[in-house]
Amino acid sequence: MSSIDVPLTKRGFGETRRTDNWWVEPLYIFLGYLAFIIYANWSLLTPTHFHFVGGGADYISPMYSPLLTQEGPVSASGLTTDPGPTPSWWPSFMPIAFSPAMLILIFPLAFRFTCYYYRGAYYKGWWMDPPSCAVGEPRNKYLGEKYFPLIFQNVHRYALYAAIVFIFLLAYDGWKALWFGPEGNKHFGVHVGSLVLILNPILLGMYTFGCHSLRHLIGGKKDVLSDSPARKKCYDCVSGLNKNHMKWAWISMFYVGFVDFYVRMCASGTWTDWSIF
Ligand code: FES
Repeated sequence: MSSIDVPLTKRGFGETRRTDNWWVEPLYIFLGYLAFIIYANWSLLTPTHFHFVGGGADYISPMYSPLLTQEGPVSASGLTTDPGPTPSWWPSFMPIAFSPAMLILIFPLAFRFTCYYYRGAYYKGWWMDPPSCAVGEPRNKYLGEKYFPLIFQNVHRYALYAAIVFIFLLAYDGWKALWFGPEGNKHFGVHVGSLVLILNPILLGMYTFGCHSLRHLIGGKKDVLSDSPARKKCYDCVSGLNKNHMKWAWISMFYVGFVDFYVRMCASGTWTDWSIF
């Protein structure tokens, strides 16, 4: 059988023979992440207005849930203005103020940043390794995820457990967003904010329960799934969500930012939380 030798040509960074707009997708990914990173950092460093209690509501921003410290005094109209007290263990030499979100976001962010989809996306959009298929990369060697620093990507399977716990915590926040009035005498109601908070764990669930690690955990070890009907059903559900993992990753990420923004707008008195019934 005849064979052809195809010489491998080492290309410089960004060099390619592709003629399509290969750079559009990495550019969108870069801008999308940048927007979220800027917003999440701003929210983390601004520990005010993350808990709305006006009109007897109880809305907690997902970036500050579970509620570790309360905010400052609540005004007569239910608005908060100051960050809560700084814990005594927070070092005084720290150049930034304590924010409870620092202790919370570490878990969902560890899950997101090690997600198999996100890796595929930001290795192109941010790491440029390579910027796209058949496009020259800026490094001479690739050590892979067996070596520092990418070896940390292996925490994903453990971060998954924390992410599942957060789904339940946020679902509880959604439930609390349906009750209004003074403590001990709350009544059921639905406001715009109730719907905003309830949708959050649903979208996060669509993302989290489509995780590749979860899929492996449920069915990956079995050669034959048909002899375990319950396991097969779960595996099919995770596989169904997994098909749209990219879509749920983006939607749920931006929606978390929106919920945080909504709570902040209500708690600062900028927006009115309209009652539906
Ligand atoms: Fe994306 Fe696990 S692979 S969340």
